[in-house]
Amino acid sequence: MLKLIDLRLTMTMFLSVPAMDLRQMWFYFISILCFSGSTRAVGEFCKDYIRNFDRVFSVPGDADMLTCTLLAPNVFNYTTVPYNISWYNSKTWKELTGEKGKIVVRGTTLWIFNIEMEDAGDYTCIIRTPSGCFKQSNLLIVNQIIPDTCSRPYATEQKLTNKVKGKLSCPLKNHIRTVDSYTIQWYKECEPITNSNPLWDRFSIFNEELDVSDVRPEDRGLYTCTVTFNLEGHSGRVSETINGTVKMSYSLEPKIVEPVNDTVKAVLGSPLKKNCRVFVPGTGKPTDTVIWMDENNFLSENHSHDVFQAPQIVTRDETGAWLERPLNFRVVKQEDFSINYTCWVFGFRSHVSAYFTLLPTDPNYMIPIGILLTGLLMIFTVSAFIYHCFKMDIVLSFRRMCPFLYTNTESDGKLYDAYVTYPSLFGGGVSGEAEIFALHMLPQFLEERCGYKLFILGRDSLPGQAIVDAVEESIQASRRLILVYSGTTFGSQGHSDTNNDTNRTMDACQSFERQTAMHSALLEGSLQVILVELEKITPTQLDFFPESVLHLRNRQGAVCLWKSSRLRWNRRLKCGGRREKDEGEDIRGELALPSLSSSSRFWKELRYYMPVKGKRMWRP
Ligand SMILES: *[C@@H]1O[C@H](CO)[C@@H](O)[C@H](O)[C@H]1NC(C)=O
Ligand SMILES: *[C@@H]1O[C@H](CO)[C@@H](O)[C@H](O)[C@H]1NC(C)=O
Ligand SMILES: *[C@@H]1O[C@H](CO)[C@@H](O)[C@H](O)[C@H]1NC(C)=O
Ligand SMILES: *[C@@H]1O[C@H](CO)[C@@H](O)[C@H](O)[C@H]1NC(C)=O
Ligand SMILES: *[C@@H]1O[C@H](CO)[C@@H](O)[C@H](O)[C@H]1NC(C)=O
Ligand SMILES: *[C@@H]1O[C@H](CO)[C@@H](O)[C@H](O)[C@H]1NC(C)=O
Ligand SMILES: *[C@@H]1O[C@H](CO)[C@@H](O)[C@H](O)[C@H]1NC(C)=O
Repeated sequence: MLKLIDLRLTMTMFLSVPAMDLRQMWFYFISILCFSGSTRAVGEFCKDYIRNFDRVFSVPGDADMLTCTLLAPNVFNYTTVPYNISWYNSKTWKELTGEKGKIVVRGTTLWIFNIEMEDAGDYTCIIRTPSGCFKQSNLLIVNQIIPDTCSRPYATEQKLTNKVKGKLSCPLKNHIRTVDSYTIQWYKECEPITNSNPLWDRFSIFNEELDVSDVRPEDRGLYTCTVTFNLEGHSGRVSETINGTVKMSYSLEPKIVEPVNDTVKAVLGSPLKKNCRVFVPGTGKPTDTVIWMDENNFLSENHSHDVFQAPQIVTRDETGAWLERPLNFRVVKQEDFSINYTCWVFGFRSHVSAYFTLLPTDPNYMIPIGILLTGLLMIFTVSAFIYHCFKMDIVLSFRRMCPFLYTNTESDGKLYDAYVTYPSLFGGGVSGEAEIFALHMLPQFLEERCGYKLFILGRDSLPGQAIVDAVEESIQASRRLILVYSGTTFGSQGHSDTNNDTNRTMDACQSFERQTAMHSALLEGSLQVILVELEKITPTQLDFFPESVLHLRNRQGAVCLWKSSRLRWNRRLKCGGRREKDEGEDIRGELALPSLSSSSRFWKELRYYMPVKGKRMWRP
């Protein structure tokens, strides 16, 4: 029965050594049968654990160590249960105790010094407790040193990343902490790395670790750490080689571009979206994760929640990668205010964060201000429009109501309020109409109704008085000059060719009047001229107008009789059937009656330009 168990155990042990060939296996099988009974290991039932996953590689001359990993909670309760660890060479099944210069057992570790090729093979550790027994084999592989190299044949790979800080770690570090004393030396290929050599200024040695401050592509290669140590009077040397590779794609420290630890104004009840934008310089695919948090928790990714974070989006440009993750508020609520929403970036090397705080927006003054300004603008526009349309009425009413605001013109030494000049004292045609207007309608209105005093040559000049003197004196004594004219007044067809002495005399007289008046008006500025236009002037007629009249007309405009609808006079402008029918009627009567209405625009305009009768009650 015991033998059978032994056989089974031994078979398992052999099967777990793939390096052995069939002949070797047979040999071991025989030897174990022979030695059974003499070795405690095979005489017991020990729970067998699979061979230690970590192979130990060594070269002749080096020291090396094997570690029993059975001292683990899942094997037995080693903190309370007493135990003994023993090591056996699987070839001889001889227990390995402190053989001078060769073997040291310390704790869970078997140290083998001065390794030779024959030392290769399985070593079994057995842990015995009062109630049980556990065993595990460990494989030692011994390789020949490769000639002309300083590295070990077996190298583990460690990665460095281009452009960033990197670190190589000596695989021996866990063991060498248990020795009595040690020194460590790093090599790259065969070149020793020293802190003092400027060639290695990017490298710094911290015992078992080699730091590289700014990795470059040429840093790839084989690095060897060699530890020389002392243990229980034995001195040994052990080396490990690292195949340092340089990963060309790299990602540097992520930088949060947005948010920037500031406050964000939000309108209560409106949706809000705030992005976390992170830039990761480098060429690699960033591994960083962007996550939004409120004060305590990660925010939901569930789209049906009021506040949720959308998935992270990665975009690349030539200098790095952009990570974006929007935080969405379905509607901003009162409780969202004054909370720090923090965007965390969890990277391979570092964690960074930035936050924003929601604040309610200031009340918006722009809308009321806009309404106020628009209102003012509209009031102003309407006022300007009203003033423009009813300017005359307003001014006239004002003059009537507040006459005391205007100076009394009586004491200014002038005799007349206006000097009236009109095209012809005689003759027919338009001149005849002008005469009717100047001699009858004008005085009727201005003198009888408004109380103005007019001077009309021919009416008011004394008989026998030299016309020139009379004109000059009277113009000097007038406050205004009313120049009544029609289209043909200043000479055009039918007028200039009249070879009539009287007409010529009158023409000369009017011309003199006009010139004197214009002289006073334009050069001295002492006289204000009111132009009264009886009919619509055609552009051809305008060509005959004297320069001075044209100038005045352009500057101040004319009071147009023809524009006033009720006074429409011009028989040449046909205004439809009714007007033509009226043609035969007495023009005098037709004009006189409606025209004198003081509400007519024409008369208002005229009154507007006439001197103000200050401090004198207006006769309505
Ligand atoms: C080991 O034993 C101690 C004391 O009996 C006990 O508290 C502990 O839970 C045990 N551990 C395991 C892994 O069984
Ligand atoms: C461990 O070994 C010592 C000395 O050989 C022995 O006294 C002790 O009983 C052993 N303990 C166990 C648990 O086997
Ligand atoms: C180092 O590792 C790289 C990548 O795995 C491999 O291509 C290279 O051959 C290795 N060099 C040595 C010397 O083992
Ligand atoms: C999202 O939230 C809604 C309501 O809270 C819930 O019904 C739904 O199951 C959630 N969805 C996921 C994918 O968690
Ligand atoms: C938000 O964070 C800033 C800076 O860390 C801190 O001063 C402030 O008190 C925080 N606000 C809240 C509401 O926690
Ligand atoms: C924002 O605040 C975090 C800590 O709350 C800090 O680490 C970070 O440097 C700050 N960022 C800026 C741009 O001030
Ligand atoms: C000149 O014309 C006026 C009226 O147009 C007329 O009364 C007068 O007789 C005419 N004189 C001559 C000499 O033709």
